[in-house]
Amino acid sequence: MAKDTPQTFYLKDYTPFGFDVESVHLTFRLAPETTRVLSRIRFAPKPDAADKTFFLYGEELQLISAKIDGQAVTPELVDGGLKCAVPSAPFTWEAEVEINPAGNTALEGLYMSNRMYCTQCEAEGFRKITYYPDRPDVMSTFTVRIEGDEPVMLSNGNPVGAGEGWAEWHDPWPKPAYLFALVAGDLVNHPGSFTTKSGKEVELNIWVRPGDENKCAFGMEALKKSMKWDEDVYGLEYDLELFNIVAVDDFNMGAMENKGLNIFNSSCVLASPETSTDANFERIEAIIAHEYFHNWTGNRITCRDWFQLCLKEGLTVFRDAQFTADMRSEPVKRIDDVITLRARQFPEDNGPLAHPPRPEAFQEINNFYTATVYEKGAEVIGMLKRLVGDESYYKALKLYFERHDGQACTIEDWLKVFEDATGRDLSQFKLWYSQAGTPRVKVTEDYAGGTYTLTFEQSTPPTPGQPDKAPRVIPMAVGLLSPNGDEVRATEVLELTEAKQSFTFEGLASKPVPSILREFSAPVILERETSNAERAFLLAHDTDPFNRWEAGNALAKETRVAMVLDGAAPDAAYLDALEKLVRDDEQDPAFRALVLSPPSQSDIAQTLYERGYTPDPQKIYDAAETFTQTLAQQLETSLPRLYAATTVEGSYSPDAESAGKRALNGRILSLLTRLDGGEQAARQYAAADNMTQQYAALAALMKAEKGEVQSRAFFEQWQDDRLVMDKWFALQIACAAPEKTAATAKALTQHALFDMKNPNRFRAVFGALAGNHAGFHHASGEGYQLLADNLIALDKLNPQTTARMCAAFQTWKRYDAGRQSLIRAQLSRIAGTEGLSRDTNEMVTRILDA
Ligand code: BES
Ligand code: ZN
Repeated sequence: MAKDTPQTFYLKDYTPFGFDVESVHLTFRLAPETTRVLSRIRFAPKPDAADKTFFLYGEELQLISAKIDGQAVTPELVDGGLKCAVPSAPFTWEAEVEINPAGNTALEGLYMSNRMYCTQCEAEGFRKITYYPDRPDVMSTFTVRIEGDEPVMLSNGNPVGAGEGWAEWHDPWPKPAYLFALVAGDLVNHPGSFTTKSGKEVELNIWVRPGDENKCAFGMEALKKSMKWDEDVYGLEYDLELFNIVAVDDFNMGAMENKGLNIFNSSCVLASPETSTDANFERIEAIIAHEYFHNWTGNRITCRDWFQLCLKEGLTVFRDAQFTADMRSEPVKRIDDVITLRARQFPEDNGPLAHPPRPEAFQEINNFYTATVYEKGAEVIGMLKRLVGDESYYKALKLYFERHDGQACTIEDWLKVFEDATGRDLSQFKLWYSQAGTPRVKVTEDYAGGTYTLTFEQSTPPTPGQPDKAPRVIPMAVGLLSPNGDEVRATEVLELTEAKQSFTFEGLASKPVPSILREFSAPVILERETSNAERAFLLAHDTDPFNRWEAGNALAKETRVAMVLDGAAPDAAYLDALEKLVRDDEQDPAFRALVLSPPSQSDIAQTLYERGYTPDPQKIYDAAETFTQTLAQQLETSLPRLYAATTVEGSYSPDAESAGKRALNGRILSLLTRLDGGEQAARQYAAADNMTQQYAALAALMKAEKGEVQSRAFFEQWQDDRLVMDKWFALQIACAAPEKTAATAKALTQHALFDMKNPNRFRAVFGALAGNHAGFHHASGEGYQLLADNLIALDKLNPQTTARMCAAFQTWKRYDAGRQSLIRAQLSRIAGTEGLSRDTNEMVTRILDA
């Protein structure tokens, strides 16, 4: 398909495949550049099929031979696959194809990473392995034979035989091809085992490259905790005798839930105290849980088509968030998730890439593994749970697993289960799945004669292709406080269903202070005129921890906005409130660390833009610097004591409590470093025996431009550890001053260890560039140009990762005309590149078109 006429796929065009696939037998004859794949597939025509065309997807395959029922056939090779005349009764299709794993830099299909064979088939990678009806609603059992001289050769399901140069696997559970996996190479395993609630013994393994064995223990514990949690909370048990996890260095995403053989980006499974930070440990625990939970929400019940992606991803993100909340701190997890939602999903939902959690059209499905599908998809489930209550939620989930096990489902199936379990009509709620954009909820209040009234008005701005929006069901969790700080009304979930709606509370002795959108009960933007005094009151008194943090966050934003717009000094009352909180040892250290973490500069830019101003990245940067410096000075006398009090002594443990203390300690160290010239940070760097403390010290020093010696030492110490080197690359760019950011990134692309083909390394450099707000948006335009140069170069190797990183430009309409034209020029240059991939073309076109 020529790039100026890209094909668009529509949800409304869904038609089932005309054949059942009764079984799949695959034989792989492994060779780096010439792997042969032999398939033997049993097809049965569906008598009532509307479309009887026998079309098999296939891309980048060299067809050697094809047979039907043993007779050679000559299929018609068409764009993206083949067609063939077939019998009207069940038949056996056989094909032999040749593929080139070593030449596969897109990391989709069968490819090689460090001489190891591995696969990535979601969403449409299986068609790069053999001709197949590669769509999620076609499910079958797979038997796989691997021939080669690799010491370890794995596939899905259970091993059924092995000998010199071969291994066979059988997966008894019918599955779509996107869950197929194969791994072969020189691997060692970290073993474990788990006994399910019904007494079945499951063998567990984490497979890694020799040398990484000492980085598996934490992941193994996380896996066992996940298995137990899914039994305890959802009643879901594992369904094979074996569960394998493999770590690979070259991987486009974080991890993949292939049945019985999860494949992980090594950054998302390998952990050791010396090489991983607390944040890494937490992410690894969450992602292992996430992929494990997919075994039921994704694998046993899968998606009918890729438009339904949030059916499995939204639900599984929701489940992994519940898990993390249970393993760690519920409020801290909620605050972290809302910070991520606002940083990643809100810009998407309020910009040129806005789409509903269930999109209705796409050109390249890989471009729809987005914050909206994932994070907003999870928020939608959270709202559903809030509306129906916990008991009904688990009742509905039970029904979902009973009714749909083994099926490929839709959002309609999902909602029907809730309707049947609760008797509720969810037709209005369904708008959350079909409407894009973040609703704005304007709140006004009234108090008279003991009656307090809250009035809510909702509206959603236009998004691409959706000029008008209907009112949605919004669960609004509200509590009321009396002016002396007592809670006079406990949390109640108000159900907004209309464009404008009022709720009254009777019998109040005085005008209460409302605490609205507690726990962030809906992914909306609240608009309410209030004072900093009231925010400070809520920061001190709200009984809802999320809203306590939110009040502090709002104060921080108001202060910074005033500093940027009016050159105001940092708000004294806010500084006082922060100081009080930091010193309050009754408060959870992790919570204190969060309140001490300023809103991001990009967040301030977005806020200014929403209020009708044009954000100036340099001014936002300067305000951030001034604020932090002022805060450090205000806390000057208490910083050494606080630093000492929050330093975690003894041997490192990644548990949530110690991690929370270290997070606070790290914040304090960064403030202290602004005052002591880096003395304490240098001491901490020298003494650190774990990456969290080593990294925190290095970051504080580099931010203060006092870390040259330590940065060199860090390189010397860790140059052979890829994952730690990613941190080293990223940190230099993240800490660079705005005028030096692009040059720093550019210099690093010339470094001997820079590797365009490794997504982690590419993301370390260019994710850090895009994440350094004032540096990326420096008026010179060097940041834009450097990113565009490298996206153009990467697109030839790895379209998927290129396309995802184009999102760095999605906020371009926020900025002044000069920056807009600089960005437009780069986007047009990318769009005009000869031979641009479908993935990247779709992204730049959508960003430009808005
Ligand atoms: N199924 C996805 C992995 C995937 C994404 C495959 C896109 C193909 C294309 C997996 O379950 C997933 O969601 N992984 C996330 C991490 C998770 C914790 C949200 C990822 O890889 O970032
Ligand atoms: Zn997932």
